[in-house]
Parts: sequence; structure tokens; C-alpha cells
Amino acid sequence: MSEKKIIITIDGWSSCGKSTLAKQLAAKLKYTYIDSGAMYRAITLYFLRNHVDWTDAKAVARALKEIHIEFHYNEQTKSSEILLNGEHVEYLIRELVIAEKVSEVAAIKAVREYAVAQQQLLGAHRAIVMDGRDIGTVVFPNAELKIFMTADNAVRVERRFRELYEKNPNISLEEVKNNLEMRDYIDSHREISPLRKASDAIVLDNTNLFPQEQFQLAYKWAMDKISSTQPS
Ligand code: DC
Repeated sequence: MSEKKIIITIDGWSSCGKSTLAKQLAAKLKYTYIDSGAMYRAITLYFLRNHVDWTDAKAVARALKEIHIEFHYNEQTKSSEILLNGEHVEYLIRELVIAEKVSEVAAIKAVREYAVAQQQLLGAHRAIVMDGRDIGTVVFPNAELKIFMTADNAVRVERRFRELYEKNPNISLEEVKNNLEMRDYIDSHREISPLRKASDAIVLDNTNLFPQEQFQLAYKWAMDKISSTQPS
């Protein structure tokens, strides 16, 4: 009997380490990892580059027709990377100029419909770990394992600052803090699929956890779900 493939969703606040955990789980389980936030970031990059006025619904609809997003697995980095219309944009989309606008773009109904439809297709064969804000609530409400990640604000700001400082030593802690707070606010207060914990999600607060401890915990939850789920 083959092992049942499950869907694992990881939602939570910005800079909680969702993608680190999702990548580790996917690698260990030999599942696909999808960073749904990267899709919203790539759409934001396209809008900025092409001067799309995202307050204009028609302009957004036209632009979305021109956007093609794919994920490719990079054997060297052992992780999936995003391509926007064939261009590798994995690094470009992490810049602060994108972070400053992405929550606004991600709040647009047409953008969410476009991204959610693609995310659901990517999970059609299960065996997937996807992280984001609405994955357990909207994209895969029937996922077998849902994790909701959180950590103290100061810890999140510090982690994000260290990450961005490596690439840009001119960045200030204040800038990072303001951006994080603004994104959390918009993400959790928007009208469509706001960030919230699914009622059946397990909360993982990693303020005082080492990455390895966090991984062991989540991996056990995944294995428990896999062994208690009947193969289809
Ligand atoms: O996870 P991230 O920081 O790369 O996400 C970028 C932005 O996209 C974030 O502000 C929230 C939004 N997002 C979303 O609205 N829904 C998702 N499923 C993933 C991300």
C-alpha cells in the first residue's frame, strides 16, 4: 500500500520563518514546496516595472493576462525558485521596494483570484507544502495538516533585519520594523481572505525555539497525519 500524500499548509505573520520550515519539511518528505508569497511579490514586480495602476480594475485585469508564473526546482540550492514570464526573479522580489507595495497588491480581489487558482492547481496532486497567509483558510481548507506560525514582534524584526542587512547594509532597523508592522496590519485587515488562523490549525510559536526544535515538532505532526490518513 502506498503512503498517503498529504497537503501541509503553513500560514502566519511576516518573518516568522514560515518558508524555512516549509522548505525543511518538503525536503524531508520529498514533497513540493511552494512559496505563495513569492507569487504576490512577482505580480507586484510586474506591476511596478510596467507602471500598472493597480487602483484601476481594467488595468489589473489586462496585466494579469500578461503574467505567467512558474516554479523551478534548483538542484544546487535544493529549493524551488520563481520565474516571472520566464525570468528568474527569486532575488529581485525580496527587495524592500517590493515588500513596501506587495500587501497592497495582495489585497486586490482579481490578483487573489488569479493566485489562488494557480496555487490550487499546484496542489492538485497533493504531496505539497505551501506557505502564505490564507493557505489553510482559503486555498486548501481541507488540508490534512495546518500550521499557524507566530513569534514575538521584536524577534521577527530582528530576524528580518539581519536577513536584509546582509544584502543592503544601509537598511535601518526602524525601516524594517515599520514595513513589517504595516504588512501585518494590511494582511490581517484586508477585506478578502485576511490573515487569520484556521480553526483546525496548530499554533507554532517559535519565539524561543531553535530551528531544529521547531522542525522536529512539525515533522512529528506531519508523520502523525500521514500515518493516520488512509491511502486513497
Ligand atoms: O510571505 P511573504 O512575506 O513573501 O508575502 C508577501 C506578501 O504577500 C505579504 O504581505 C502577504 C501577501 N500574501 C498573501 O496575501 N497571501 C499569501 N498566501 C501569501 C502572501
